[in-house]
Amino acid sequence: NPLPKIFQPLKIRNYVAKNRMWVSPMCMYSAQDGFSTDFHLAHYSQFAIRGAGLILVEATGVLPEGRISPNCLGLWKDEHIDGLKRIVSHLHKYGTIAGIQIAHSGRKGSTIPLQLYGTRDSLRASSEEGGWPDNVYAPSALPYNNDHYTPKEMTIDQIKKVQQAFVNATVRAEKAGFDVIELHCAHGYLLHEFLSPLSNKRTDEYGGSFENRTRMVIETVRKVRAVWLQEKPLFVRVSATDWVDGGWNSDDTVALAKLLVKEGVDVLGCSTAGNDPRQKIPLSPGYQVQFATKVKENVPEICTVAVGIITEGQQASDIIQNDKADAVSIARQFLRNPSFVLSTAHELNVNIKWNNQYERGKLKTKYSF
Ligand code: FNR
Repeated sequence: NPLPKIFQPLKIRNYVAKNRMWVSPMCMYSAQDGFSTDFHLAHYSQFAIRGAGLILVEATGVLPEGRISPNCLGLWKDEHIDGLKRIVSHLHKYGTIAGIQIAHSGRKGSTIPLQLYGTRDSLRASSEEGGWPDNVYAPSALPYNNDHYTPKEMTIDQIKKVQQAFVNATVRAEKAGFDVIELHCAHGYLLHEFLSPLSNKRTDEYGGSFENRTRMVIETVRKVRAVWLQEKPLFVRVSATDWVDGGWNSDDTVALAKLLVKEGVDVLGCSTAGNDPRQKIPLSPGYQVQFATKVKENVPEICTVAVGIITEGQQASDIIQNDKADAVSIARQFLRNPSFVLSTAHELNVNIKWNNQYERGKLKTKYSF
């Protein structure tokens, strides 16, 4: 029996992911002043020990005000490098590709960490709580909703500073040893806010037409690609649709993917939503896979990653086997079952290499030890 495609390696530039089951970036709201801790080391290592092909470290702020909450990871100063370096070297020990998602929260910044959700009326984090109410900015001065601060409209000077912050964070990610960086252009954070006509009402060269709304992303990608080593893969994650009439949609995503290929982007993560509370999301297993497939069919030069309610081994395998995407990215199922890669191999009777300390887990018969 040939190896199911989900367990076949995927080569991107000079890097090979040993399988196509990848850990989706997930904010852990467990950093102080942007610094990673032993929690992050243990958290990310568990997936590497248990066979994940690639791990994307959570959204990491390129500036302090680019964090979502006061407890998000950061890469805005050199002191952040060492902690991340320790994580990367651990992931490499287990043959996993180590990536990091670099991000700016835009108008969704200065909110409380997830652990405090439901304990109070508003998501807004005050200055006393470590937030930055006076320094929330976005393409236009429109709040996401009443739970968020109203941002200030960015000046051109601020736009250039944010682009430079992405470049600086990229250089630091390189120093930390990451193999992959992903630019977070999804879920209603700053770069997505520029793309979508719902959040971008600018009248200068960064707003209006498709070309103008994509300018921020394209310029940032170009500057990042210029300092990121040629042999290293560059990922972008988008919300392929806003799920709102008149918003960013899947045709826009295909058009953007074509531009990103020209800029040297290798992989497009196809998530959705997060930019407008009017969104109507038809949730069901694998509900976002269609967007990865649409990009893959129209822009075969870019690898696509499907994400969203992928919880079963057979389901994940079918997505790849039927060429619906090149890889799957899994978030919540990895929190429930950090061994999702191994349990899938076990379920599908696939003999992959297990980390030697866990090798016994492969045995199916009770008495075979
Ligand atoms: C997320 N998600 C997310 N996405 C992203 O691009 N950057 C991030 O930092 C986070 N943070 C985050 C934290 C937590 C706790 C969860 C559960 C999710 C979204 C995530 O990567 C994924 O796209 C969605 O969760 C859908 O996939 P699942 O959970 O259905 O596999």
